[in-house]
Amino acid sequence: MSDREFQAGNLVQLTDTRGRHHTITLHEGAVFHSHKGAVNHDDLIGQPEGCAVTSAGGMTYLALRPILEDYVLSMGRKAAIIYPKDAFAIVGLAGIQPGSQVVEAGAGSGALSCFLLNAVGPSGTVTSVEIRPEFAEIAKRNVERWFGGPPANWSLSIGDLAEHEPETAEADAVILDMLAPWECLDSVAAQLRPGGRLVTYVATTTQLSRWVEHLRADGRWTEPRATESLVRTWHLEGLSVRPDHRMIGHTAFLVVTRRLAPGVVPPTRRRRPAPGAYGPDYTGPRPPDVPANPVTDSGENTNTAAES
Ligand SMILES: C[S@@+](CC[C@H](N)C(=O)[O-])C[C@H]1O[C@@H](n2cnc3c(N)ncnc32)[C@H](O)[C@@H]1O
Repeated sequence: MSDREFQAGNLVQLTDTRGRHHTITLHEGAVFHSHKGAVNHDDLIGQPEGCAVTSAGGMTYLALRPILEDYVLSMGRKAAIIYPKDAFAIVGLAGIQPGSQVVEAGAGSGALSCFLLNAVGPSGTVTSVEIRPEFAEIAKRNVERWFGGPPANWSLSIGDLAEHEPETAEADAVILDMLAPWECLDSVAAQLRPGGRLVTYVATTTQLSRWVEHLRADGRWTEPRATESLVRTWHLEGLSVRPDHRMIGHTAFLVVTRRLAPGVVPPTRRRRPAPGAYGPDYTGPRPPDVPANPVTDSGENTNTAAES
């Protein structure tokens, strides 16, 4: 049997005639049960990828090995995963390539861990940190199922990243997906090499604003950049070729910045703040070049730097 045929131990995605997916791991003598009757794993073992198999109840399933995108969307989870569209972007924005040393937190369900491990390859390393042991267990299960066992270049630590004993000060990239990334900034700064990339996945505009202002006020980072990506699928049928009516409108924002060399002060921005950006209603951290807000007795803001 060549590698092209299904073998025991392979992950297989079965797609029914309504487009529903089921991911199974093939075992000799095992049976996949659905409401449309059973499929014997032995009917798939030895068959070529892309074959069809019919259940005892007459449902036909198309059988393909899942790609990582299929796998993460179907795997068991408690913590929300990073969607494939964002995982693709993170790998690119963080400059991750074969051999990269990457740190991520929180590991959650392990979806991003799988993408990172794929991208760094066997010569790179991924260190994942997760504060909740029960989520770490799910991440471990999902990663090991995808890679067919524990990847030798993956370490999963249970704990708070803010207190994590760094395994390296030479990480090429750190990826954060958590509610309060600003609590972990010292730990991240200690682990990233100068020039290393920090990509943070933040779900809301309030987190986005607070995070960006923390980075600026902290001073150890290049000017942060934020993006979001919207992916629109299309309906393709004869003359009816148009965007689908439904899409995932929002997942998160990606904030990208780079670690400055120790002791380097970020060059002052030439741009003046937008009118009112740091006006009287603003209470968050201030960039070093934006002075505190002197408010007159009448309540009028006299901070021209902030208002002009
Ligand atoms: C949305 S989930 C991450 C999902 C993950 N990126 C994935 O793709 O499966 C956020 C996780 O961050 C963890 N977390 C929050 N704060 C943390 C911290 N300070 N250190 C480590 N993990 C943390 C949470 O327990 C949660 O599991």
